[in-house]
Amino acid sequence: MGIWVDTDMGVDDLAALLLAQRLGIDGISLVFGCAEIPAVRANALAACAAFGWPDPVQGADCAILGETETAERILGASGQPTRGARLPEVPDRPLAPALPALAGWLDGHSDAQILALGPLTNLATLVLAHPELCANIGCITWMGGATGRGNHTEHAEFNAIADPEALAVLLSRGIPIDMVDLEPCRRVVIEEQHIAPLPQPMRDLMGGYLDIGLSRGRSGMALYDPVAAALLVAPRLFSLSDVSLSIELHDAERLGQTIVAPHGAHRVIAGLDADAVRDLCLSALWETS
Ligand code: RIB
Ligand code: CA
Repeated sequence: MGIWVDTDMGVDDLAALLLAQRLGIDGISLVFGCAEIPAVRANALAACAAFGWPDPVQGADCAILGETETAERILGASGQPTRGARLPEVPDRPLAPALPALAGWLDGHSDAQILALGPLTNLATLVLAHPELCANIGCITWMGGATGRGNHTEHAEFNAIADPEALAVLLSRGIPIDMVDLEPCRRVVIEEQHIAPLPQPMRDLMGGYLDIGLSRGRSGMALYDPVAAALLVAPRLFSLSDVSLSIELHDAERLGQTIVAPHGAHRVIAGLDADAVRDLCLSALWETS
């Protein structure tokens, strides 16, 4: 049995899926985030056609409370910056809705593993609509949150602040979450020499992603979503701590800040072999040639 991937289909999401496919991908649901949902859908249709993944299903185009916060300011309107090449475009078409597809998949599982790479809106909607299926979720491995400095605001990581109430819903329903937050991801850095040998179009796509870091005067760019995929594929490269997790919903300045306290039902990354995780992530990009 494979995993379910919920994604906002930026470049790092694509790299994460390429690694996660080693576990088998049972389904892919789309959520707004890196870009607005039509661009997310275009990216997903292209990726699923190129790599033979299951047809994606269409999820939320806005947060539970109605806002649509995207990362277009950094990633551009497509959500996938590139130095030139990209995956071949596929004609747009309507997709099946995410909620029944997710519920149907979850219904057949007892220890379902979900890899979440964007705002948690689809998964919160799922547990609200189908509380009877909550016990079937083994774990949501989520790239999101910040135990230190944020990236979208001073205190908040993008996937967390794009729908903070969604995380609050999952926490209130007792869903187990392994949170791969910004701090461990910042230790897994790609530089020019890592992407130069990649096959196209991944070289140009990862180049566009690397340029985000270079344009800020850094020598590299942290991998985010692939680190969460790596936790599922190669847990031996990580150590985890049990924590209690909460999210700030009230203080405007700290909105979306994830708060971690010792002991609890959730887990964060306490340590990782950063070079080995980076090499594992890069190995998945090689396989695209
Ligand atoms: O903050 C990084 C996260 O925001 C990643 O998941 C990236 O793809 C965007 O969704
Ligand atoms: Ca993402």
